[in-house]
Amino acid sequence: MKMLLQTLLTLFPFLLLKFSSVRATSLPGGPNGKIYGVNLGSWLVLEPWMLPQEWLDMGGEICDQCSTCIASEWAFTRAYPDTADAIFDDHWETWFTQSDVDKLVEYGINTVRIPLGFWIVESLVERSHEFYPRGGIKQLKRGLKQLKAAGIHAILDHHALPGIQTPGQMFTGNCTSNVQFYTPPNYHRALVWTAVMTGLSHLDPDFGSVFSIQAVNEPIMDASQTPGYGDFQVNFVKVVRAVELALGMPVAADDGLLSSILSGISGGNVTASLLKASETMQSDSDVANALAEATPILADILVQLESSSALSEGAPLRSPLVTNFMDVGWQHNNPSNPANAQIGPQGYDNHLYYSFGGVAAANPEAYMQSICNLQRVKTDAAKGNSPLWFGEWALPTQFSATDDFLYRWADAQKLMYSQGAGWIFWNFKVEVSEKAGDLARQWSYFEGVERGYLTRDPSELNDNSVCANYV
Ligand SMILES: *[C@@H]1O[C@H](CO)[C@@H](O)[C@H](O)[C@H]1NC(C)=O
Ligand SMILES: *[C@@H]1O[C@H](CO)[C@@H](O)[C@H](O)[C@H]1NC(C)=O
Repeated sequence: MKMLLQTLLTLFPFLLLKFSSVRATSLPGGPNGKIYGVNLGSWLVLEPWMLPQEWLDMGGEICDQCSTCIASEWAFTRAYPDTADAIFDDHWETWFTQSDVDKLVEYGINTVRIPLGFWIVESLVERSHEFYPRGGIKQLKRGLKQLKAAGIHAILDHHALPGIQTPGQMFTGNCTSNVQFYTPPNYHRALVWTAVMTGLSHLDPDFGSVFSIQAVNEPIMDASQTPGYGDFQVNFVKVVRAVELALGMPVAADDGLLSSILSGISGGNVTASLLKASETMQSDSDVANALAEATPILADILVQLESSSALSEGAPLRSPLVTNFMDVGWQHNNPSNPANAQIGPQGYDNHLYYSFGGVAAANPEAYMQSICNLQRVKTDAAKGNSPLWFGEWALPTQFSATDDFLYRWADAQKLMYSQGAGWIFWNFKVEVSEKAGDLARQWSYFEGVERGYLTRDPSELNDNSVCANYV
């Protein structure tokens, strides 16, 4: 393997050429053609509203103001410090299973987006005052292995950030108004997380389905409240590329400092190569510090996952990861443009929900008029944010929707999102129970297919001219 790495480096320019000709897609390592995807929500980041009965059975609570009761992973783990790990492990084991994977295959899904908390890298948690369950990394590996065997591509989504990236949301793992993500120590922890996940994606064979890592899920929309986010975007890409270069992976690095990492590679010794990369990047201290801190963490996790042979054998030759950000249109008030951070393949993510208001008047005709004239793919492309996919959307409405409307609502959204790189539905499923009521009808992909709103072949529509009367 040492030999192989050496040889690869000599062949570097040739390999670069080869990669671009083998995959004619803008998403190397991803699905061919459009993304037809679902989110694996409430698996490794649990949102109680999606499984209300199970959450109560686990020992959680449900209340109107989620900060005031046990309604997040933080609150739960704090309340049950001795049993939380085992209770969550049961949830991880049962919420996403082989039979779910089989169903994804049956329904032609080619991509999943996997929401993750920063706490899946356990050593990043400051346990004196932060509370999160442990053991998720093994479940992630288990699920990725099943997805890989099924030929489904995966996006690792940093969904719940250290310090909390947005107030009052269960999906951040801590329902709180105390938002601390946009500070140097928490940006640092997020970069360490990124380096570890990049390393795992290339080094652990079970992570072979991962083709993309998303930097931050849904930061605060007002950019004046996210100081330093633009610098973080630049550092995020550099960390991914630095790890890949240190592993001997061909990646178009137009940054001179980055590409000099290639000369420092130490045979197949991953630890030595990463530390050398960190030294090389010394003048880029945020990147260098993240690499240095991530190196032993990555090694520990590979040992824990019984994949430590990769530490001496190096990484197999793979496409570089697609770095992924929420698009520039996600924020207002003079946001930084993630296109400015790009080195190598990059993709952009927009989320669109009509049910939370502010998009269209609350009636079926206004919804159709709005979605059929969606401009987001075009306006983003004008700012370099292409390819764009719609990484979260669903069928909920602010009015009581008829079945007839939901057929059209599903079709129209799929039609418009496919003008970009494709779509990823939220969520693959939600709980079906008396307590959950009608939740699954508009939030569950599986339920939507069974009811016929969503076609069995995701590339099809019930009615190809669904938007004909609205444009
Ligand atoms: C998490 O929530 C708790 C309780 O609501 C709060 O005291 C704490 O500051 C929050 N942590 C962070 C990092 O925001
Ligand atoms: C790899 O490099 C590290 C850091 O230089 C060193 O501690 C370790 O012994 C090396 N491992 C092997 C197998 O050579």
